[in-house]
Amino acid sequence: MSKAYDKPQTANQNILNWVRQTADLCRPDRVHWCDGSEVENQMLCDLMVKSGTFVKLNEKKRPGSYLARSHPSDVARVEDRTFICSRTKNEAGPTNNWADPAEMKQKLLGMFNGCMQGRTMYVIPFAMGPLDSPICKIGVEITDSPYVVVNMRIMTRMGQTVLDKLGANGTFIPCLHSVGAPLSPGQKDVSWPCEGDPKNKYIVHFPEEPSIWSYGSGYGGNALLGKKCLALRIASTVAKKEGWMAEHMLILCLTSPQGKKYYISAAFPSACGKTNLAMMQPTVPGWKVTTLGDDIAWIRVGKDGRLYAMNPETGFFGVAPGTSAKSNPHALAACAKNTIFTNVVLTPDNDVWWEDMGVPAPAKGIDWQGNEWTPDNGKKGAHPNSRFTAPASQCPVIDPDWQNPEGVPLSAILFGGRRPHTIPLVNEAFDWEHGVFMGSACGSETTAAALGQAGVMRRDPFAMLPFCGYNMGDYFAHWLSFAQRTDRAKLPKVYFVNWFRKDANGRWLWPGYGENSRVLKWICERVEGTGRAQKTPIGNLPTLEAIDVSGLNLPADDLPQLLAVDTAGWKAEVEDVAVNYAKFDGTLPKALSEQLDGLRKRLG
Ligand code: OXD
Ligand code: MN
Repeated sequence: MSKAYDKPQTANQNILNWVRQTADLCRPDRVHWCDGSEVENQMLCDLMVKSGTFVKLNEKKRPGSYLARSHPSDVARVEDRTFICSRTKNEAGPTNNWADPAEMKQKLLGMFNGCMQGRTMYVIPFAMGPLDSPICKIGVEITDSPYVVVNMRIMTRMGQTVLDKLGANGTFIPCLHSVGAPLSPGQKDVSWPCEGDPKNKYIVHFPEEPSIWSYGSGYGGNALLGKKCLALRIASTVAKKEGWMAEHMLILCLTSPQGKKYYISAAFPSACGKTNLAMMQPTVPGWKVTTLGDDIAWIRVGKDGRLYAMNPETGFFGVAPGTSAKSNPHALAACAKNTIFTNVVLTPDNDVWWEDMGVPAPAKGIDWQGNEWTPDNGKKGAHPNSRFTAPASQCPVIDPDWQNPEGVPLSAILFGGRRPHTIPLVNEAFDWEHGVFMGSACGSETTAAALGQAGVMRRDPFAMLPFCGYNMGDYFAHWLSFAQRTDRAKLPKVYFVNWFRKDANGRWLWPGYGENSRVLKWICERVEGTGRAQKTPIGNLPTLEAIDVSGLNLPADDLPQLLAVDTAGWKAEVEDVAVNYAKFDGTLPKALSEQLDGLRKRLG
């Protein structure tokens, strides 16, 4: 069959050569260079409606929106199939799967050989970060999935503008992706071609090159390579060399009743409410939250010595179940139109529904597996890791500075996780090193965002366990180094927060959501030097009257429990952190083992 190539609008020989070599390897029927236009997007959506990958949603209720259903074997990130192929195993460190780069390349070349037969190969030039940001990074994703193209168009700056920026000599990070399902002549395609054994999926990073190769999955972070692969795993290695940080963090702006702005970033493990916090509606009168990002922050020292955070993405790939008018009205508004839904329920009027959406379930619908479904059939209608891909610009509280190429100056950095016991509602680090210790001790009950058992406690330092592209001990050292890279007094204050505390009977102690603004308010008061706190063995905790709980009707005993130091619990916590630290033997910075010893001593 003769091959069709449409005309690339670039003179960049590096891209042209790479695309030609990749086409020779993967042998697609056609090559399509994405320009990122509306016309192209519509063409791809129409194509996917025809092929059965997309269901067009009700234009009156959900304009410009579509539903996709993945294969049941392809519903989340696959951490055990994710590899960091640095030169040595030690560079990848104890928390990553490592494979020898040459051996892995050989294996991948075999798998990619002819893998796009019968399909179109799409070339997606994309930028992470505003094109004029000093740390903007350009990638080119080659994929045989039109679903990936239309998602990348929401999640990144994509298309001709990026090729123009690259010009003839610019450099880019090659990101190669295939669903791994070649079609023989006449073979009918399926709606979601990744239906194989999860063991045949490979999400591979070559940090030295750098490049990314992803095979066999079409879902989320496995396939939208700008997100976790480039903006976190590869970017973290680049950032280490260049002296900045690529973090799994939301960015928000809190404006006080006096109009003062406080920019805050927060790292929580996957599906622990980053999107909800980033867009929260404060219940404390007079305070306002605006959103800059919900998942990734690139942070660097600005000219004035403060840390500036920037969101490299342009969309939200949010977890649908649990998103409701109560938990996150602004996310619901953001996905009211021009949104791609994956693995949620299709209602009889061609709209979407998911568990805990806060609206009654339809009497019947089609579940995420494409089967007829009723609310009482004992099965979840939406997959727990079902998602919406929505443009950030549609968020009603998007911050005016969300695309500022310089980023925004941080007043505070938060760490957190789902911790039903021991960890207080909020705890302030004594200093930067103590804050880095808090980040390194981050942990949470696991969720459905990755394949594996949900609900078990795992340590997830800085919420970066699945996303750090190099030895995590060196990553800790990199964090510590910021106390030398700038004037300490200019560094943000660091906090550990926990919205997920339960009492002995399993009752939630804190209402969460918009009420979390009460904690953020105290943090802003601390930044101003006015908030009251007491020094304890574990950090500076708010005094009981320091948190504004007016109008909350919190049971009298709850706040004291939320702010108590549970000494026995903390002693167990220290030993558990020590077990985790033991993994980093040889690379754990001395400053962190000293922090751990200090805490152990203070607890008595
Ligand atoms: C995500 C994740 O999708 O962290 O953001 O898993
Ligand atoms: Mn995430």
